[in-house]
Amino acid sequence: MTPILPRRQSTHEPDDAVGLMLACHTRIRSFGSLAARIALDTSPSDEEVAEAAAALHRYFSVALPLHVADEDLSLRPRLERFGAPAEVREALSRMSMQHLDIDQVLAEALPLWLALSRGEASRAQRSKDLVSLGRSLGEHFDGHLDLEERVIFPVVRTLLPADEEEALAGEIRRRRSV
Ligand SMILES: [Fe+2]
Ligand SMILES: [Fe+2]
Repeated sequence: MTPILPRRQSTHEPDDAVGLMLACHTRIRSFGSLAARIALDTSPSDEEVAEAAAALHRYFSVALPLHVADEDLSLRPRLERFGAPAEVREALSRMSMQHLDIDQVLAEALPLWLALSRGEASRAQRSKDLVSLGRSLGEHFDGHLDLEERVIFPVVRTLLPADEEEALAGEIRRRRSV
């Protein structure tokens, strides 16, 4: 049987700001598909489901908020300060609103994953919620990551002076080091 937990990614992290944020997107996609898998795939054992639910809870409650802070607090103000055109400003404001929408889905999903990870609920009991939350998360992230990768990330290098791009990468790294 294929292991349910996502494979650990290479420890070799990119060191530029966009590379660091894209590496987060790879992890978001990987945990997003895990959320769909624990809802739909009936082959994993209860222990595997509990382990996967714990990993989902950890990733989406600890790591994802750091990425959201990278974008809302470090990336967005810099692009606005350095003359982002109207289309990019509009995308940045949509991005921050989508972060709030994703938070709302997670406010329901996190307690459910926690309960599954502790054996306080079974997948069979909560399968309807798992399926709809997994689907909702996938739909939110599909549009969200696409917007950032298509409209926002490509202008980082063209708009920001080199020292600002380095400062952005520095802030992203520091968030993970505390
Ligand atoms: Fe985002
Ligand atoms: Fe992002």
